[in-house]
Amino acid sequence: MESSKSLNECKCRLAMGRKFVVGGNWKMNGTKQQINEILSFLKAGPLNPDTEVIVGVPAVYLDYVKTNSPANVEVAAQNCYKADKGAFTGELSPIMLKDIGVNWVILGHSERRQIFGESDELIAEKVAFALSNGLKVIACIGETLQEREAGKTEEVVFRQTQAIANKVKDWSNVVIAYEPVWAIGTGKTATPQQAQEVHKALREWIGKNISQDVANSIRIQYGGSVTGTNCKELGSQADIDGFLVGGASLKPEFVTIVNARQ
Ligand code: PGA
Repeated sequence: MESSKSLNECKCRLAMGRKFVVGGNWKMNGTKQQINEILSFLKAGPLNPDTEVIVGVPAVYLDYVKTNSPANVEVAAQNCYKADKGAFTGELSPIMLKDIGVNWVILGHSERRQIFGESDELIAEKVAFALSNGLKVIACIGETLQEREAGKTEEVVFRQTQAIANKVKDWSNVVIAYEPVWAIGTGKTATPQQAQEVHKALREWIGKNISQDVANSIRIQYGGSVTGTNCKELGSQADIDGFLVGGASLKPEFVTIVNARQ
C-alpha cells in the first residue's frame, strides 16, 4: 500500500517532468587527498542516471574537480558575487565560474545568511545576476529553530522566496533547497511529514504568487541531516524533488542518497 502510494507519487512527479536532483555541499571541507577519495566513490557509483548530481566545491578546488569529476556529476560553486569583475576582494564572479566550465552555484545557504550576514535582498540580487550570466542556481531558504517554534516557518520561507521572485522572472534554471536551519549539521532531520508539509505549502505559494507552471516544474530539495538511512522515506514525499546534503556528501554514503529513488 505504502509502496504503491509512493510509486504513484513518483509517476506524478515524472509527469510534471521534475528530475530528482541531489547536491552535495562540501562546505569548507576537503584537501586534494580527500577530494580524490570523494571522486573515486563518485566514479565507482553507480549513480542513478535518472538523478541529476551536483557537488558544491570550495572555490580553490573548483577547477580541479571540474577537470577530474565523472561526466555524470556537475560542479557548483558555493557562492558568487553580483558583479562580473572589479574591486571586490575575495569574491568570485559568475563569469569566472563559466570560464572554467562550472555551470552551477549554491546561493543563500543559511551559513552565508547567518555567519556572513547576507540579506534576502543581496541573495536575490546574486541569484538574478548568476542566472543572467547563464549559471544554474540552487537557492537556499529555511527557518531557524526560534522561527519554527514561534510558528513562523511559512512566513519565513515565503518571505525568502518572495525576495528572489522580486528579481527573477525565469525560474527554469533555479532549484530551491528548503533547509530548516535547526536540521543542518545537527543530526536532527525534519521528519518526512514536516519536510513535505513545508514543500507542499511552498509549492502552493509559488502557484499563487509566481505561476502555476513554475509551481509544477520547479524542483524543491530538502536539506538538513540527510543520510543514507533517512533518504528513501524523505525522497518518496510528493513535493520533495531531491536533497542538498552536507556532511554525508563527503562520505561514500552519498551514493546511497543519490540513488534514494531507485
Ligand atoms: P547537513 O548540511 O547535511 O550536514 O545537515 C546540509 C546543508 O547545509 O546543505
